[in-house]
Amino acid sequence: MREGIPVLRGALPLFGHLPSLHRRLRDVVRDGERENGPVFWLNLGFGRWVICAAHADAWQLMKSKGVSSEHAREKPVIDFLGARSLIALDGAEHARVRGALNPTFSPRGLTGLDLGPAFAEIIRTRLSTWAQRGTISLLAETRELVLSLMFRMAGVEGAELSEWRRHYERLAWLAVNMPDIPGSPRWFAKRSRDWLDARVRELIAEARANPSTGLISALVAARDEHGAALDEQQLVENTRLLILAGHETSASTMAWATALLAVHQDAWKRLCDEALAAPDLPRTPGELKAFPFAEAMFREALRLYPPVSFDMRRVVTELEIAGVSLPLGADVLIPLATQSRDAGVYPDPDRFAPDRWLDKRTAPTAVELVQFGAGPHFCLGYHVAWLEIVQFLVALARVLGAAGLRPSLHGRFPEPRFIPLTHPPSSLRIRVA
Ligand code: HEM
Repeated sequence: MREGIPVLRGALPLFGHLPSLHRRLRDVVRDGERENGPVFWLNLGFGRWVICAAHADAWQLMKSKGVSSEHAREKPVIDFLGARSLIALDGAEHARVRGALNPTFSPRGLTGLDLGPAFAEIIRTRLSTWAQRGTISLLAETRELVLSLMFRMAGVEGAELSEWRRHYERLAWLAVNMPDIPGSPRWFAKRSRDWLDARVRELIAEARANPSTGLISALVAARDEHGAALDEQQLVENTRLLILAGHETSASTMAWATALLAVHQDAWKRLCDEALAAPDLPRTPGELKAFPFAEAMFREALRLYPPVSFDMRRVVTELEIAGVSLPLGADVLIPLATQSRDAGVYPDPDRFAPDRWLDKRTAPTAVELVQFGAGPHFCLGYHVAWLEIVQFLVALARVLGAAGLRPSLHGRFPEPRFIPLTHPPSSLRIRVA
């Protein structure tokens, strides 16, 4: 026990529960709850202890005024995202920066940037190369595709997609608590962060010199209600965050959805029937409604494999969860990967069942959107993600389906890797034939 709360057994020296969380996060949380009840300590490695709140209502903590994002302004997260990025801010300062960005990310703001038609074209062009290539390295492919969408959104042309992808892949290791030993993943991650920041500064300078309709120009021009602009550090950290948050997450969901379609032929056929019956790809958030099965596939892939496997908050006032008082100052881990498979919300929660969404044509509830977080930090890019992933699925079915092709898997269905973000293994290949 620590401070009256049970400690999960099985921690390794130095690495704690990190290796088992990386491979089996869902099982670790479910077993931990069975053995210890809904609240227990976990060791995230190298002495970083956090409280895992496995209870079905834990996600509500993200909406509570009794928590903060202070943990993100300390190591290891500060190295990863920076102390001035949205995710690390609280209260009035968070509201100020968020208020400056919100209009650009609303459905109206996105329509104003004319993103939908541009996304549709980029996605279609990239997917039409799949047929000739035959074998696709799935995660690298979806990451580069979504990076190109993010660059289109940012108003950047001709970026070196594979270089950016590689540096972002390394950067993510800064989220993990481990020592800065030369040659370690963390050491390489810092070099990649320097590489990314140098490029991001160039993009900001370019946007200042030649304002465009892109996101970086929008960030540079953004003013809060007092007329104040973001300072240089906020611009750099938030641009780096936006490109990261915007591509790793959506790319992972696209990869999972494709892998699911590769093994569920009935779902592939239904997607093709729907997509090929339509005159074209959807181009605005409003047009997505005409593709109920593609939307259902997106929501089911996201539910089964939420890219952000857990979120975190620090306890700053007296709080309890499931009748257990949380110690002041403790960091609480909210496992979105199990929250999004809660049997109380989803019957037979581990089963792939896109139909569960088809009868629900009303707006999603907060618990159904838990993969995007909750409360003041709720994902800024939610509308972008929904649009680009459904566009991707419709385009996949239209491009491959029209040519009589379909994706299939090399080998068994992949097991997720949960840390830093949930994704299929980088070695995953699909065959297009
Ligand atoms: C499937 C796709 C996505 C998923 C599952 C996802 C998930 C999340 C989650 C869980 C959070 C933390 C929320 C919280 O702590 O309450 C978050 C925050 C954020 N996301 Fe997303 N995200 C996705 C796509 C995107 C896209 C496309 C963008 C940008 C274009 C984006 C930008 C952000 C930003 C800037 C934040 C920080 C918001 C804040 O702290 O106020 N995300 N996202």
